[in-house]
Amino acid sequence: MLLVTGSTGHLGANLVRRLLDDGQRVRVLVRQQNDLTALDGLDVEKAYGDLRDLAACRNAVAGCQRIHHCAALVSTLAGNRKHRRDIFECNVLGTRNLLRAAREADVERVVVTGSLSAVGHTPDRPCNEDDLFNPFEPNLPYGFSKALVEHECWKAVAEGLPVVVAVSCAILGPNDFKPSRMGRTLVDFANRRLRAYVPGGFEFVSARDMVQGHLLAMDRGRPGQRYIFSTQFLTVDELLGIFEQVTGQRRPRLRLPGPLMSGIAAVVDQALRFFPAVPRRFTPGAVRLLRMQRRADCSRAKSELGYQPTSIADAVREAHAFFVTRGLIMDSLTAGTVPVPKSAAASAAARKI
Ligand SMILES: NC(=O)c1ccc[n+]([C@@H]2O[C@H](COP(=O)([O-])OP(=O)(O)OC[C@H]3O[C@@H](n4cnc5c(N)ncnc54)[C@H](OP(=O)(O)O)[C@@H]3O)[C@@H](O)[C@H]2O)c1
Repeated sequence: MLLVTGSTGHLGANLVRRLLDDGQRVRVLVRQQNDLTALDGLDVEKAYGDLRDLAACRNAVAGCQRIHHCAALVSTLAGNRKHRRDIFECNVLGTRNLLRAAREADVERVVVTGSLSAVGHTPDRPCNEDDLFNPFEPNLPYGFSKALVEHECWKAVAEGLPVVVAVSCAILGPNDFKPSRMGRTLVDFANRRLRAYVPGGFEFVSARDMVQGHLLAMDRGRPGQRYIFSTQFLTVDELLGIFEQVTGQRRPRLRLPGPLMSGIAAVVDQALRFFPAVPRRFTPGAVRLLRMQRRADCSRAKSELGYQPTSIADAVREAHAFFVTRGLIMDSLTAGTVPVPKSAAASAAARKI
């Protein structure tokens, strides 16, 4: 039996489907009060509870040999005190609880999803696994928490639990039920609701590749190591070019200079600091990340694990097909213009997503 945390999230929902397709028995740790649509129709065993509750972690882990720990509170906000405490508790204390339960239950192996935000930034070259997180850079609370998550992992390794960290870049792809920041951007673009954009760039990973990364890390990763999984670096202009091809829509005319958008985002952030739940696209943290144009080197994953990245264009097509099926993208806007791959459309329909 395998345990997956974060199965209602973007990565977890894709991972669970792949594990089921591979014939694995899957248990998921879920919060009963939250939306469980991502699991509709899937043959999974549900353990209910929150990672912050050690007893819930022990109950979820019992009888599992392997754990994929994908759950986290993902955020690009500096946020208020409560938001920062939630991030710390869900990500750091939650991981500590899960790893403790795993150690007690003699679990064979745990793969924990890491984040590029917890890998050191190297402006002159693509960063790699050896680049340490620098706490003196202007990091977001989420980035700090993911660095501390890794500390929890290495402590558990020192205590004898085989843990591997699978570092994710910005994920794009289907089964994005919440939807994610990138998913919302694609939906708004397709529905002509994206009014402006900021130049920059980032390292992206397709959900399919990130799932593959988790499986490779589970089967072949060295405990105590982290592996970066990326599909490709894209500038915002290149990504919007893919969006245009896939959706048949044009990009917004307004291309705001980065420094100007940083200023606007800072003002909006101050005004909304007591309302972290209010969705906003351009947080100061998000703008800063885009302007940093971070690149990552995933040659360790390729050489040690046999990782082979696919394509972000395919990931965008699959995400688009998913959002059309979910009714989030108005089909009439894009009908006839979208080359949806048959496999993605068919599997989306089959799963009634
Ligand atoms: N998305 C990205 O671009 C990106 C980039 C780099 C790294 N990552 C990492 O990849 C992993 C997956 O991210 P994602 O995009 O799939 O996230 P997501 O879509 O926001 O989903 C987060 C998942 O974590 C669960 N969760 C959060 N706090 C929990 C708690 N206290 N107890 C139990 N479950 C909890 C959520 O459950 P509920 O449905 O109950 O809220 C949800 O299933 C995370 O570790 C994240 O740090 C993601």
